[in-house]
Amino acid sequence: MSNNPSLILLEAMAFTEVCNKLKRLRLFEPSIAVLGFFFVSVCLICGFFYLDFRTASKGFVFALRSERFNWLRNENLSQIRKVEFLSEEGNGCDVFDGDWVWDDSYPLYESMNCPFVDQGFRCSENGRPDLLYTKWRWQPKLCNLPRFNATFMLEKLRNKRMVFIGDSIGRNQWESLLCMLSSVVPNKESIYEVNGSPITKHKGSLVFKFKDFNSTVEYYRAPFLILQSRPPSGASQAIKTTLKLDQMDWSSAKWKNADVLVFNTGHWWNYEKTIRGGCYFQEGNEVKIGMKINDAYQRSLETVMHWINNELDSKKTKVFFRMFAPVHFRGGNWRTGGNCHLEALPELGSSLVPPETWSHFRLANAILSSYPTVQNTTKLEILNVTQMTARRKDGHSSLYYLGRDVGPAPLHRQDCSHWCLPGVPDVWNELLYALFLKHEWNS
Ligand SMILES: *[C@@H]1O[C@H](CO)[C@@H](O)[C@H](O)[C@H]1NC(C)=O
Ligand SMILES: *[C@@H]1O[C@H](CO)[C@@H](O)[C@H](O)[C@H]1NC(C)=O
Ligand SMILES: *[C@@H]1O[C@H](CO)[C@@H](O)[C@H](O)[C@H]1NC(C)=O
Ligand SMILES: *[C@@H]1O[C@H](CO)[C@@H](O)[C@H](O)[C@H]1NC(C)=O
Ligand SMILES: *[C@@H]1O[C@H](CO)[C@@H](O)[C@H](O)[C@H]1NC(C)=O
Repeated sequence: MSNNPSLILLEAMAFTEVCNKLKRLRLFEPSIAVLGFFFVSVCLICGFFYLDFRTASKGFVFALRSERFNWLRNENLSQIRKVEFLSEEGNGCDVFDGDWVWDDSYPLYESMNCPFVDQGFRCSENGRPDLLYTKWRWQPKLCNLPRFNATFMLEKLRNKRMVFIGDSIGRNQWESLLCMLSSVVPNKESIYEVNGSPITKHKGSLVFKFKDFNSTVEYYRAPFLILQSRPPSGASQAIKTTLKLDQMDWSSAKWKNADVLVFNTGHWWNYEKTIRGGCYFQEGNEVKIGMKINDAYQRSLETVMHWINNELDSKKTKVFFRMFAPVHFRGGNWRTGGNCHLEALPELGSSLVPPETWSHFRLANAILSSYPTVQNTTKLEILNVTQMTARRKDGHSSLYYLGRDVGPAPLHRQDCSHWCLPGVPDVWNELLYALFLKHEWNS
Protein backbone atom coordinates (compact mmCIF):
# COMPACT_ATOMS: atom_id res chain seq x y z
CA MET A 1 0.00 0.00 0.00
CA SER A 2 2.01 2.92 -1.25
CA ASN A 3 1.06 6.58 -1.11
CA ASN A 4 2.89 7.12 -4.31
CA PRO A 5 1.85 4.58 -6.91
CA SER A 6 3.07 6.73 -9.80
CA LEU A 7 6.65 6.41 -8.59
CA ILE A 8 6.39 2.63 -8.50
CA LEU A 9 4.91 2.63 -11.95
CA LEU A 10 7.75 4.77 -13.21
CA GLU A 11 10.29 2.41 -11.73
CA ALA A 12 8.50 -0.61 -13.21
CA MET A 13 8.52 1.03 -16.59
CA ALA A 14 12.18 1.85 -16.35
CA PHE A 15 12.89 -1.77 -15.47
CA THR A 16 11.00 -3.18 -18.47
CA GLU A 17 12.67 -0.68 -20.69
CA VAL A 18 16.10 -1.84 -19.55
CA CYS A 19 15.04 -5.46 -20.05
CA ASN A 20 13.90 -4.74 -23.56
CA LYS A 21 17.14 -3.00 -24.39
CA LEU A 22 19.08 -5.92 -23.01
CA LYS A 23 16.99 -8.29 -25.14
CA ARG A 24 17.90 -6.33 -28.24
CA LEU A 25 21.53 -6.68 -27.29
CA ARG A 26 21.18 -10.36 -26.54
CA LEU A 27 24.19 -11.24 -28.59
CA PHE A 28 26.45 -9.22 -26.38
CA GLU A 29 24.85 -10.22 -23.10
CA PRO A 30 27.57 -12.52 -21.78
CA SER A 31 30.38 -10.17 -22.69
CA ILE A 32 28.60 -7.23 -21.09
CA ALA A 33 28.26 -9.17 -17.87
CA VAL A 34 31.95 -10.08 -17.95
CA LEU A 35 32.96 -6.55 -18.80
CA GLY A 36 30.73 -5.17 -16.05
CA PHE A 37 32.19 -7.51 -13.51
CA PHE A 38 35.70 -6.68 -14.65
CA PHE A 39 35.02 -2.94 -14.49
CA VAL A 40 33.53 -3.14 -10.97
CA SER A 41 36.43 -5.27 -9.76
CA VAL A 42 39.02 -2.85 -11.11
CA CYS A 43 37.22 0.04 -9.40
CA LEU A 44 37.11 -1.80 -6.08
CA ILE A 45 40.75 -2.81 -6.16
CA CYS A 46 41.89 0.65 -7.17
CA GLY A 47 39.72 2.09 -4.41
CA PHE A 48 41.31 -0.10 -1.81
CA PHE A 49 44.81 0.63 -2.95
CA TYR A 50 44.05 4.33 -3.09
CA LEU A 51 42.81 4.27 0.50
CA ASP A 52 45.81 2.26 1.57
CA PHE A 53 48.14 4.64 -0.19
CA ARG A 54 46.48 7.56 1.52
CA THR A 55 46.79 6.07 4.97
CA ALA A 56 50.44 5.39 4.35
CA SER A 57 51.38 8.69 2.75
CA LYS A 58 49.38 11.19 4.75
CA GLY A 59 49.95 9.33 7.94
CA PHE A 60 46.35 9.52 9.03
CA VAL A 61 45.81 6.42 11.01
CA PHE A 62 42.26 5.49 10.67
CA ALA A 63 43.33 2.14 11.91
CA LEU A 64 39.79 0.89 11.72
CA ARG A 65 40.01 1.27 7.99
CA SER A 66 43.46 -0.21 7.57
CA GLU A 67 42.50 -3.15 9.77
CA ARG A 68 39.46 -3.82 7.67
CA PHE A 69 41.60 -4.11 4.58
CA ASN A 70 44.40 -6.10 6.13
CA TRP A 71 43.18 -9.22 4.35
CA LEU A 72 43.89 -7.57 1.02
CA ARG A 73 47.55 -7.09 1.77
CA ASN A 74 49.60 -10.20 1.59
CA GLU A 75 50.50 -10.06 5.24
CA ASN A 76 51.66 -12.81 7.49
CA LEU A 77 48.39 -13.99 8.97
CA SER A 78 49.92 -14.90 12.31
CA GLN A 79 50.60 -11.21 12.84
CA ILE A 80 46.97 -10.30 12.34
CA ARG A 81 45.70 -12.67 14.97
CA LYS A 82 46.34 -10.81 18.20
CA VAL A 83 46.99 -12.60 21.44
CA GLU A 84 45.58 -11.50 24.79
CA PHE A 85 48.09 -9.38 26.66
CA LEU A 86 47.23 -11.05 29.97
CA SER A 87 47.73 -14.55 28.61
CA GLU A 88 51.11 -16.20 28.60
CA GLU A 89 51.34 -15.66 24.84
CA GLY A 90 51.05 -11.95 25.52
CA ASN A 91 54.32 -11.86 27.45
CA GLY A 92 56.69 -9.45 25.81
CA CYS A 93 54.00 -7.67 23.80
CA ASP A 94 54.83 -3.96 23.68
CA VAL A 95 51.46 -2.48 24.52
CA PHE A 96 52.70 1.03 23.68
CA ASP A 97 53.30 0.13 20.06
CA GLY A 98 49.96 0.37 18.31
CA ASP A 99 47.26 2.59 16.85
CA TRP A 100 44.33 4.69 17.94
CA VAL A 101 41.15 3.02 16.71
CA TRP A 102 37.62 4.35 16.68
CA ASP A 103 35.43 2.61 19.23
CA ASP A 104 31.83 3.63 19.63
CA SER A 105 31.59 1.97 23.03
CA TYR A 106 33.81 4.71 24.47
CA PRO A 107 34.03 6.80 26.64
CA LEU A 108 34.17 4.73 29.81
CA TYR A 109 32.25 7.36 31.83
CA GLU A 110 30.64 10.78 31.46
CA SER A 111 32.16 13.75 33.25
CA MET A 112 28.76 14.96 34.41
CA ASN A 113 28.36 11.73 36.35
CA CYS A 114 31.75 12.07 38.00
CA PRO A 115 32.10 14.54 40.87
CA PHE A 116 35.89 14.12 40.98
CA VAL A 117 36.89 16.18 37.95
CA ASP A 118 38.28 19.71 38.02
CA GLN A 119 36.15 22.16 36.08
CA GLY A 120 39.12 22.72 33.77
CA PHE A 121 38.94 19.16 32.40
CA ARG A 122 35.18 19.09 31.79
CA CYS A 123 35.47 20.10 28.14
CA SER A 124 32.06 19.00 26.89
CA GLU A 125 30.31 20.57 29.84
CA ASN A 126 32.35 23.73 29.23
CA GLY A 127 31.10 23.95 25.67
CA ARG A 128 33.36 21.82 23.50
CA PRO A 129 31.07 21.00 20.57
CA ASP A 130 32.49 17.68 19.35
CA LEU A 131 32.70 14.35 21.16
CA LEU A 132 35.02 12.64 18.70
CA TYR A 133 37.97 12.93 21.09
CA THR A 134 36.24 10.61 23.59
CA LYS A 135 35.88 7.77 21.10
CA TRP A 136 39.40 6.54 20.51
CA ARG A 137 40.69 3.32 22.00
CA TRP A 138 44.31 2.24 22.01
CA GLN A 139 45.02 -0.97 20.10
CA PRO A 140 48.49 -2.50 20.51
CA LYS A 141 49.86 -4.02 17.30
CA LEU A 142 50.47 -7.52 18.57
CA CYS A 143 48.05 -8.05 21.42
CA ASN A 144 44.70 -7.04 22.89
CA LEU A 145 44.41 -5.10 26.12
CA PRO A 146 41.98 -6.35 28.76
CA ARG A 147 38.79 -4.31 28.89
CA PHE A 148 38.93 -2.05 31.95
CA ASN A 149 36.91 -3.57 34.79
CA ALA A 150 36.55 -1.06 37.61
CA THR A 151 35.07 -3.61 40.01
CA PHE A 152 37.98 -5.90 39.46
CA MET A 153 40.49 -3.09 39.94
CA LEU A 154 38.79 -1.99 43.17
CA GLU A 155 38.91 -5.58 44.40
CA LYS A 156 42.64 -5.59 43.68
CA LEU A 157 43.02 -2.34 45.57
CA ARG A 158 41.11 -3.50 48.63
CA ASN A 159 42.90 -2.39 51.82
CA LYS A 160 45.54 -0.74 49.66
CA ARG A 161 46.86 2.70 48.83
CA MET A 162 47.47 3.88 45.30
CA VAL A 163 49.37 7.15 44.99
CA PHE A 164 50.00 9.52 42.09
CA ILE A 165 52.96 11.88 42.45
CA GLY A 166 53.77 14.58 39.96
CA ASP A 167 52.56 17.72 38.21
CA SER A 168 49.09 18.78 37.12
CA ILE A 169 49.13 16.33 34.22
CA GLY A 170 49.58 13.62 36.86
CA ARG A 171 46.57 15.10 38.59
CA ASN A 172 44.72 14.93 35.27
CA GLN A 173 45.44 11.20 35.18
CA TRP A 174 44.56 10.71 38.83
CA GLU A 175 41.15 12.37 38.37
CA SER A 176 40.58 10.17 35.33
CA LEU A 177 41.20 7.07 37.43
CA LEU A 178 38.86 8.32 40.16
CA CYS A 179 36.13 8.60 37.53
CA MET A 180 36.89 5.22 35.99
CA LEU A 181 36.79 3.51 39.38
CA SER A 182 33.83 5.40 40.80
CA SER A 183 31.70 4.61 37.75
CA VAL A 184 30.85 1.24 39.34
CA VAL A 185 30.19 2.62 42.83
CA PRO A 186 26.50 3.49 43.02
CA ASN A 187 26.78 5.46 46.24
CA LYS A 188 29.17 8.31 45.43
CA GLU A 189 28.92 9.46 49.06
CA SER A 190 30.99 6.43 50.00
CA ILE A 191 33.93 8.01 48.17
CA TYR A 192 35.32 11.04 49.97
CA GLU A 193 38.42 13.12 50.61
CA VAL A 194 39.68 12.06 54.02
CA ASN A 195 40.25 15.67 55.16
CA GLY A 196 37.09 16.98 53.54
CA SER A 197 39.05 19.06 51.02
CA PRO A 198 37.27 20.02 47.81
CA ILE A 199 38.84 18.77 44.61
CA THR A 200 38.80 22.05 42.73
CA LYS A 201 41.80 24.38 42.75
CA HIS A 202 43.32 22.52 45.64
CA LYS A 203 47.08 22.36 45.85
CA GLY A 204 49.19 19.94 47.80
CA SER A 205 47.70 16.54 48.42
CA LEU A 206 44.30 14.93 48.16
CA VAL A 207 43.40 11.50 49.52
CA PHE A 208 40.20 9.93 48.26
CA LYS A 209 38.89 6.95 50.11
CA PHE A 210 36.67 4.25 48.61
CA LYS A 211 34.98 3.33 51.85
CA ASP A 212 33.49 0.00 50.76
CA PHE A 213 36.92 -1.20 49.70
CA ASN A 214 39.01 0.49 52.40
CA SER A 215 41.28 1.72 49.68
CA THR A 216 42.62 5.16 48.92
CA VAL A 217 43.59 6.75 45.63
CA GLU A 218 45.84 9.69 46.41
CA TYR A 219 47.51 12.60 44.67
CA TYR A 220 50.59 14.48 45.84
CA ARG A 221 51.64 17.55 43.98
CA ALA A 222 55.41 17.39 43.43
CA PRO A 223 56.11 18.66 39.91
CA PHE A 224 59.87 18.08 40.26
CA LEU A 225 59.57 14.92 42.40
CA ILE A 226 62.63 16.16 44.29
CA LEU A 227 62.76 18.79 47.05
CA GLN A 228 62.24 22.47 46.34
CA SER A 229 62.95 24.68 49.34
CA ARG A 230 64.82 27.71 50.65
CA PRO A 231 68.39 28.28 49.49
CA PRO A 232 71.27 27.80 51.95
CA SER A 233 72.01 30.80 54.14
CA GLY A 234 74.31 33.35 52.59
CA ALA A 235 73.17 32.65 49.05
CA SER A 236 72.76 35.59 46.69
CA GLN A 237 69.52 37.61 46.75
CA ALA A 238 68.71 36.48 43.22
CA ILE A 239 68.27 32.93 44.47
CA LYS A 240 64.72 32.61 45.79
CA THR A 241 64.50 28.84 46.08
CA THR A 242 66.62 25.85 45.14
CA LEU A 243 65.85 22.40 43.88
CA LYS A 244 67.81 19.87 45.96
CA LEU A 245 68.81 17.46 43.25
CA ASP A 246 69.87 14.82 45.76
CA GLN A 247 66.77 14.81 47.99
CA MET A 248 63.25 13.58 47.40
CA ASP A 249 60.25 15.86 47.82
CA TRP A 250 59.29 16.33 51.46
CA SER A 251 56.01 14.47 50.92
CA SER A 252 57.87 11.26 50.05
CA ALA A 253 57.69 10.19 53.69
CA LYS A 254 53.91 10.06 53.28
CA TRP A 255 53.78 7.83 50.24
CA LYS A 256 56.79 5.67 50.88
CA ASN A 257 54.65 2.83 52.22
CA ALA A 258 51.93 2.92 49.59
CA ASP A 259 51.15 -0.21 47.58
CA VAL A 260 51.19 1.39 44.15
CA LEU A 261 53.10 4.51 43.13
CA VAL A 262 52.57 6.32 39.83
CA PHE A 263 55.18 9.00 39.13
CA ASN A 264 55.32 11.61 36.43
CA THR A 265 57.42 14.71 35.86
CA GLY A 266 58.78 16.83 33.04
CA HIS A 267 56.52 19.81 32.45
CA TRP A 268 58.26 21.94 35.07
CA TRP A 269 61.80 21.17 33.96
CA ASN A 270 62.21 24.28 31.84
CA TYR A 271 63.58 27.81 32.16
CA GLU A 272 60.18 29.38 32.74
CA LYS A 273 59.38 27.31 35.77
CA THR A 274 62.86 27.36 37.33
CA ILE A 275 65.57 29.96 36.77
CA ARG A 276 63.27 32.67 35.47
CA GLY A 277 61.54 32.65 38.86
CA GLY A 278 64.80 32.58 40.82
CA CYS A 279 64.78 28.85 41.36
CA TYR A 280 68.29 27.39 41.02
CA PHE A 281 69.77 23.92 41.47
CA GLN A 282 71.60 22.64 44.51
CA GLU A 283 73.66 19.55 45.30
CA GLY A 284 74.81 19.04 48.86
CA ASN A 285 75.30 22.56 50.21
CA GLU A 286 76.38 23.98 46.93
CA VAL A 287 74.15 26.04 44.66
CA LYS A 288 75.10 25.27 41.06
CA ILE A 289 74.42 28.58 39.40
CA GLY A 290 75.46 27.65 35.89
CA MET A 291 73.98 24.17 35.82
CA LYS A 292 72.00 23.34 32.68
CA ILE A 293 68.36 22.46 33.18
CA ASN A 294 68.63 19.15 31.37
CA ASP A 295 71.60 18.14 33.52
CA ALA A 296 69.62 19.00 36.64
CA TYR A 297 66.64 17.04 35.31
CA GLN A 298 68.88 14.05 34.73
CA ARG A 299 70.36 14.28 38.24
CA SER A 300 66.87 14.48 39.73
CA LEU A 301 65.75 11.36 37.91
CA GLU A 302 68.80 9.51 39.16
CA THR A 303 67.84 10.53 42.68
CA VAL A 304 64.30 9.24 42.17
CA MET A 305 65.58 5.93 40.81
CA HIS A 306 68.02 5.57 43.65
CA TRP A 307 65.24 6.25 46.13
CA ILE A 308 62.94 3.67 44.50
CA ASN A 309 65.74 1.15 44.59
CA ASN A 310 66.83 1.72 48.16
CA GLU A 311 63.91 3.04 50.15
CA LEU A 312 60.97 0.94 49.01
CA ASP A 313 59.87 -2.48 50.12
CA SER A 314 60.13 -4.36 46.85
CA LYS A 315 57.70 -7.01 48.06
CA LYS A 316 55.02 -4.49 48.83
CA THR A 317 55.25 -1.56 46.47
CA LYS A 318 54.68 -1.56 42.72
CA VAL A 319 56.11 1.43 40.91
CA PHE A 320 54.97 2.96 37.64
CA PHE A 321 56.56 5.89 35.88
CA ARG A 322 54.44 7.64 33.32
CA MET A 323 56.53 9.25 30.62
CA PHE A 324 56.18 12.81 29.40
CA ALA A 325 52.87 13.81 27.80
CA PRO A 326 53.44 16.14 24.84
CA VAL A 327 51.79 19.53 24.47
CA HIS A 328 50.28 20.62 21.13
CA PHE A 329 50.39 24.37 20.61
CA ARG A 330 50.15 25.50 17.00
CA GLY A 331 51.57 28.91 16.12
CA GLY A 332 53.05 29.78 19.49
CA ASN A 333 53.11 28.50 23.04
CA TRP A 334 50.78 29.02 25.98
CA ARG A 335 52.07 32.57 26.50
CA THR A 336 52.07 33.66 22.90
CA GLY A 337 48.65 32.57 21.71
CA GLY A 338 49.42 29.04 20.51
CA ASN A 339 46.28 27.08 19.74
CA CYS A 340 44.82 23.59 19.33
CA HIS A 341 41.08 24.28 19.40
CA LEU A 342 40.48 23.26 15.79
CA GLU A 343 41.99 19.82 16.21
CA ALA A 344 39.25 17.23 16.05
CA LEU A 345 41.18 14.14 14.94
CA PRO A 346 44.32 12.30 15.99
CA GLU A 347 47.26 12.11 13.61
CA LEU A 348 50.22 9.87 13.04
CA GLY A 349 52.83 12.49 12.33
CA SER A 350 53.36 14.55 15.44
CA SER A 351 54.08 17.81 13.69
CA LEU A 352 52.63 19.93 16.49
CA VAL A 353 54.85 18.42 19.15
CA PRO A 354 57.71 20.77 20.07
CA PRO A 355 61.25 19.33 19.93
CA GLU A 356 61.65 19.70 23.73
CA THR A 357 59.28 16.79 24.07
CA TRP A 358 61.72 14.45 22.43
CA SER A 359 64.74 15.69 24.35
CA HIS A 360 62.74 15.23 27.57
CA PHE A 361 61.72 11.83 26.40
CA ARG A 362 65.20 10.66 25.39
CA LEU A 363 66.68 11.84 28.64
CA ALA A 364 64.13 10.13 30.87
CA ASN A 365 64.09 7.08 28.64
CA ALA A 366 67.86 6.65 28.95
CA ILE A 367 67.76 6.82 32.73
CA LEU A 368 64.68 4.71 33.27
CA SER A 369 65.75 2.05 30.79
CA SER A 370 69.03 1.59 32.59
CA TYR A 371 67.20 0.97 35.85
CA PRO A 372 68.52 -2.29 37.32
CA THR A 373 66.38 -5.33 36.75
CA VAL A 374 68.23 -7.57 39.17
CA GLN A 375 66.45 -9.49 41.86
CA ASN A 376 65.42 -7.72 45.04
CA THR A 377 65.01 -4.36 43.39
CA THR A 378 61.55 -2.88 43.16
CA LYS A 379 60.09 -3.61 39.79
CA LEU A 380 59.60 -0.45 37.80
CA GLU A 381 57.00 -0.36 35.04
CA ILE A 382 57.28 2.40 32.49
CA LEU A 383 54.12 3.83 31.03
CA ASN A 384 55.76 4.66 27.73
CA VAL A 385 52.97 6.96 26.55
CA THR A 386 54.93 9.76 24.86
CA GLN A 387 54.68 8.52 21.27
CA MET A 388 51.07 7.41 21.43
CA THR A 389 50.05 10.63 23.12
CA ALA A 390 51.92 12.76 20.60
CA ARG A 391 49.27 11.77 18.05
CA ARG A 392 46.41 13.06 20.18
CA LYS A 393 46.52 16.75 19.34
CA ASP A 394 42.72 16.59 19.48
CA GLY A 395 42.52 15.69 23.17
CA HIS A 396 43.39 18.96 24.92
CA SER A 397 41.15 21.30 26.90
CA SER A 398 41.96 24.12 24.39
CA LEU A 399 39.24 26.77 24.86
CA TYR A 400 37.05 24.67 27.10
CA TYR A 401 38.69 24.87 30.50
CA LEU A 402 36.62 27.68 32.01
CA GLY A 403 33.36 26.94 33.76
CA ARG A 404 30.09 26.15 32.06
CA ASP A 405 28.78 29.63 32.89
CA VAL A 406 31.86 31.44 31.61
CA GLY A 407 31.99 29.79 28.20
CA PRO A 408 35.00 29.31 25.91
CA ALA A 409 38.26 31.12 26.68
CA PRO A 410 39.64 33.83 24.37
CA LEU A 411 41.43 32.36 21.36
CA HIS A 412 44.88 33.48 22.54
CA ARG A 413 44.54 31.83 25.96
CA GLN A 414 44.37 28.13 25.13
CA ASP A 415 45.30 25.12 27.19
CA CYS A 416 47.02 22.66 24.88
CA SER A 417 48.81 20.78 27.65
CA HIS A 418 46.03 19.45 29.91
CA TRP A 419 43.56 16.88 28.66
CA CYS A 420 39.80 16.71 28.48
CA LEU A 421 38.10 14.10 30.63
CA PRO A 422 36.88 11.66 29.58
CA GLY A 423 39.78 11.41 27.17
CA VAL A 424 43.42 10.55 26.68
CA PRO A 425 44.39 10.02 30.38
CA ASP A 426 41.72 7.29 30.59
CA VAL A 427 43.77 5.36 28.07
CA TRP A 428 46.94 5.78 30.10
CA ASN A 429 44.99 4.32 32.99
CA GLU A 430 43.80 1.39 30.90
CA LEU A 431 47.46 0.67 30.15
CA LEU A 432 48.28 1.09 33.82
CA TYR A 433 45.50 -1.39 34.58
CA ALA A 434 46.84 -3.89 32.04
CA LEU A 435 50.40 -3.71 33.38
CA PHE A 436 49.15 -3.82 36.95
CA LEU A 437 47.24 -7.05 36.29
CA LYS A 438 50.07 -8.53 34.25
CA HIS A 439 52.38 -7.90 37.15
CA GLU A 440 49.99 -9.76 39.47
CA TRP A 441 49.63 -12.63 37.02
CA ASN A 442 53.37 -13.09 36.79
CA SER A 443 54.08 -12.97 40.51
C1 LIG B 1 54.85 -15.44 10.14
O1 LIG B 1 55.53 -14.73 11.20
C2 LIG B 1 56.02 -15.58 12.21
C3 LIG B 1 56.63 -14.72 13.31
O2 LIG B 1 56.34 -13.38 13.12
C4 LIG B 1 57.06 -16.54 11.62
O3 LIG B 1 57.53 -17.40 12.63
C5 LIG B 1 56.42 -17.34 10.50
O4 LIG B 1 57.40 -18.13 9.89
C6 LIG B 1 55.80 -16.41 9.47
N1 LIG B 1 55.09 -17.20 8.47
C7 LIG B 1 55.12 -16.96 7.17
C8 LIG B 1 54.31 -17.84 6.30
O5 LIG B 1 55.77 -16.03 6.71
C1 LIG C 1 34.46 -7.45 36.48
O1 LIG C 1 35.05 -7.99 37.62
C2 LIG C 1 34.11 -8.50 38.55
C3 LIG C 1 34.87 -8.86 39.83
O2 LIG C 1 35.94 -9.70 39.57
C4 LIG C 1 33.39 -9.68 37.92
O3 LIG C 1 32.45 -10.20 38.82
C5 LIG C 1 32.70 -9.20 36.66
O4 LIG C 1 32.12 -10.30 35.99
C6 LIG C 1 33.67 -8.50 35.73
N1 LIG C 1 32.92 -7.88 34.66
C7 LIG C 1 33.19 -8.13 33.39
C8 LIG C 1 32.35 -7.41 32.41
O5 LIG C 1 34.08 -8.88 33.04
C1 LIG D 1 42.48 -0.53 55.59
O1 LIG D 1 43.60 -0.30 54.76
C2 LIG D 1 44.78 0.07 55.44
C3 LIG D 1 45.87 0.30 54.43
O2 LIG D 1 45.47 1.23 53.48
C4 LIG D 1 45.19 -1.03 56.42
O3 LIG D 1 46.32 -0.61 57.15
C5 LIG D 1 44.04 -1.33 57.34
O4 LIG D 1 44.37 -2.44 58.15
C6 LIG D 1 42.78 -1.64 56.57
N1 LIG D 1 41.66 -1.81 57.46
C7 LIG D 1 40.96 -2.95 57.55
C8 LIG D 1 39.82 -2.94 58.47
O5 LIG D 1 41.25 -3.93 56.88
C1 LIG E 1 59.43 3.59 24.67
O1 LIG E 1 59.03 3.44 23.33
C2 LIG E 1 59.97 3.91 22.40
C3 LIG E 1 59.39 3.75 21.03
O2 LIG E 1 58.67 2.57 20.89
C4 LIG E 1 61.28 3.14 22.55
O3 LIG E 1 62.26 3.69 21.69
C5 LIG E 1 61.76 3.26 23.98
O4 LIG E 1 62.93 2.49 24.17
C6 LIG E 1 60.70 2.82 24.95
N1 LIG E 1 61.17 3.08 26.29
C7 LIG E 1 61.12 2.18 27.26
C8 LIG E 1 61.71 2.59 28.55
O5 LIG E 1 60.61 1.09 27.11
C1 LIG F 1 67.68 -11.05 47.78
O1 LIG F 1 67.37 -11.00 49.16
C2 LIG F 1 67.53 -12.23 49.85
C3 LIG F 1 67.11 -12.03 51.30
O2 LIG F 1 66.25 -10.97 51.46
C4 LIG F 1 68.98 -12.68 49.76
O3 LIG F 1 69.12 -13.95 50.39
C5 LIG F 1 69.39 -12.79 48.30
O4 LIG F 1 70.77 -13.08 48.21
C6 LIG F 1 69.13 -11.47 47.58
N1 LIG F 1 69.41 -11.62 46.15
C7 LIG F 1 70.15 -10.74 45.47
C8 LIG F 1 70.37 -11.05 44.03
O5 LIG F 1 70.62 -9.74 45.98
